[in-house]
Amino acid sequence: MKPYPDLTAYVRDLFVPRDAELEAILEEIPSTGLPAISIKPEEGRFLQFLVRAISARRALEIGTLGGYSGIWIARGLAPGGRLLTLEVEAKHAQVARQNFIRAGVADLVEIRMGNAHQSLQELSGEPEFDFIFIDAEKTGYPAYMDWALEHVRLGGVIAAHNAFRKGSVAGLAAQDQYTEVTDAFNRKAAAEARLISTIFPAGDGTLVAVKVS
Ligand SMILES: C[S@@+](CC[C@H](N)C(=O)[O-])C[C@H]1O[C@@H](n2cnc3c(N)ncnc32)[C@H](O)[C@@H]1O
Repeated sequence: MKPYPDLTAYVRDLFVPRDAELEAILEEIPSTGLPAISIKPEEGRFLQFLVRAISARRALEIGTLGGYSGIWIARGLAPGGRLLTLEVEAKHAQVARQNFIRAGVADLVEIRMGNAHQSLQELSGEPEFDFIFIDAEKTGYPAYMDWALEHVRLGGVIAAHNAFRKGSVAGLAAQDQYTEVTDAFNRKAAAEARLISTIFPAGDGTLVAVKVS
């Protein structure tokens, strides 16, 4: 009997490369006073895969926290690529900065402080992004998706964390205050003709969408 209590453990064991520093970063984020809401390792691997699959050079993340997902994204970038990650909390940005250094990706990442809605307005005149990862406040998701649709290149990918909301979007767990907005966000992505989208069951569900027109 192999030591896999579930398929997630199997996938993680096979496909998430062992990296003691990255594992320590994830484990230590809550002890710095930040919430334990980083993405899961297998979701990180999925983001890295997506970024590399489209040879992304311009990546954007909305919601940095301690930098864990940003490290995965940065490690997927095509040569010469860069990640811009948006964060409103100074303490989170400070922890992330240290973690980007620890993971050896600090040269590839810029953290932009401030409310992401404001930062996005300021970014509107810049070249399009290849990859956009949405992982900030849930109520902001619809607006973030609207912005992403206008600012991701044709063939670029938009991803968003927590699409399953622990199963509550499908009635498989008790609803919480964000179930409705998450369900509405998923439906908006599904109905958007300019996107081919789906939810990949990594972590708490990763909504993924490729812009096709
Ligand atoms: C779920 S955490 C991000 C986790 C991170 N992507 C990871 O997995 O490593 C959400 C982050 O978004 C930040 N955030 C929330 N609302 C924001 C806003 N309006 N603008 C910028 N950042 C925001 C929070 O401070 C928090 O650090």
